[in-house]
Amino acid sequence: MPYFIEFIDVYKSFGDRTILDGVSFGVEKGETFAILGPSGVGKTVMLTHVVGLLKPDKGRIIVDGQDITEMNERALADIRRKVQLVFQSGALFDSLTVAENVAFPLNDTNLGTDEIDRRVEEKLQLVEISDLAGLMPSELSTGMKRAVAIARALAAEPQAILYDEPTTMVDPLMSQTINKLIRKMQHQLGLTQMVVTHDIANCAEKVADHVALLHQGKFVFNGTMKQLYASDHPVAKEFVEEDLIRFEKEQEFA
Ligand SMILES: Nc1ncnc2c1ncn2[C@@H]1O[C@H](COP(=O)(O)OP(=O)(O)OP(=O)(O)O)[C@@H](O)[C@H]1O
Ligand SMILES: [Mg+2]
Repeated sequence: MPYFIEFIDVYKSFGDRTILDGVSFGVEKGETFAILGPSGVGKTVMLTHVVGLLKPDKGRIIVDGQDITEMNERALADIRRKVQLVFQSGALFDSLTVAENVAFPLNDTNLGTDEIDRRVEEKLQLVEISDLAGLMPSELSTGMKRAVAIARALAAEPQAILYDEPTTMVDPLMSQTINKLIRKMQHQLGLTQMVVTHDIANCAEKVADHVALLHQGKFVFNGTMKQLYASDHPVAKEFVEEDLIRFEKEQEFA
């Protein structure tokens, strides 16, 4: 399978802090690839490189067969339509309804209002939130806002979606709903996806075909979930064990 997203020996520093220290990996077309790592390790930095919001100091980034490393903003606009980034906050417009938020990326296209309305309805239905169409973001829970952000990402009819911490700060039931949505996007729409998370049991395990663990600027593990659980790399082992403890605690209080 060809890679839809590929990092080739990518380096990124801020001042004297090295965040990405020679990272290489590929995401196959149609798969869901999770990047694991603790807070502050560089997961969001990595995701923003995929759509050219940050540029590497060294190395190449390839998306859908195109080298985007030195692409100008105009060419990147096309990449950002094809590859939608869903932020942790959802980044909705507070003054617009759910339906208007989902329609927003379509407003400066040449689609007519009928076609826009049709698409918005279709995406809300796909994400199973048609009943929220008229609500304002302030009326929604964090989890619901994320579902709306996914519907808005779909409005552009992308080939890939990147999710930043999709299950953080939501209750276990809502996490399940979001995980189901992520899987549905893969199976029903054939999308290529990246999911950044610090959560194995509540997220990566439920959605990912491949997982990689970021530690001190490098991937110390890249493989299947089964291989991660069997890994004897000390950092991978510790990460898996801590996740299990957190998961068991949550179950206790659930
Ligand atoms: N534009 C920037 N300028 C300077 N430093 C930055 C910039 N963006 C990120 N950093 C730093 O890079 C490091 C990695 O940040 P990043 O947001 O990618 O972490 P993360 O793994 O996503 O963490 P979290 O799980 O908390 O979201 C942090 O120390 C952050 O302060
Ligand atoms: Mg982050």
